[in-house]
Amino acid sequence: MIDIHSHILPGIDDGALNMEEAVSMARIAVDEGIKKVIATPHHQNGKFFNNKQYILKKVKEFNDVLQSENIPLEILPGQEIRIYGSLLDDFEKGDILTLNHTNYLFVELPSGHVPRYTEQLLFEIQLKGMTPIIVHPERNAEMLKNPDKLLNLVKKGALTQLTAGSVTGNFGKKVQKFSMQLIESNSTHFIASDAHNTTTRSFHMRQSISKVYKEFGSQVVYYFQENAELLMRDQPVYKQEPSKIKCKKFLGIF
Ligand SMILES: [Fe+2]
Repeated sequence: MIDIHSHILPGIDDGALNMEEAVSMARIAVDEGIKKVIATPHHQNGKFFNNKQYILKKVKEFNDVLQSENIPLEILPGQEIRIYGSLLDDFEKGDILTLNHTNYLFVELPSGHVPRYTEQLLFEIQLKGMTPIIVHPERNAEMLKNPDKLLNLVKKGALTQLTAGSVTGNFGKKVQKFSMQLIESNSTHFIASDAHNTTTRSFHMRQSISKVYKEFGSQVVYYFQENAELLMRDQPVYKQEPSKIKCKKFLGIF
């Protein structure tokens, strides 16, 4: 299994505090059946700046440690980029890192809203030959309120990634329900851990697979696992035409 989103690199963002915690996270990943993890440190989120060269250096250092500890896990480079106006200028400057040097790029929206320029920027990213992947849309307050916003971006070529912990209910019932609706409506293409530590924000990958299997069957499990593989190899991923997200309204008797 491949996990395409994690904060496993030690001491560079709000993920693993130090090498000890990073190694513990790696051991948990291996226990869950994960073979490769894409390290995606925060970049430009107002607090953390981790440019391409710095991440590549840290990935190499951490892989060396894992090898010396005989932990069978490979770390691949990536970056979680908060959407910002000069993202593409910085890409030209060489600060931006795609996922495992492919044409797939992680884009994070602020948790409370969807900036006005999102659609235009996602379009421009695609003009550069890259495919933007919106990370954890299920945890965005505006998307939750207005799923058509997400549907529109997916129809225009963006992919999306759910958090394993959202699928398992770790972020609450509302987020879990929305995650299920996103799967059902073909509006999401990946499930990844977004693991930050070994306690409050661990991997939950195996548990999320069980939940998807229970709710949607083995084909959907295969779809998510295969898409992570295809992404890693820079190949086109599976996707289907998204349908409108049904929000069931209940008529109450008062
Ligand atoms: Fe993240």
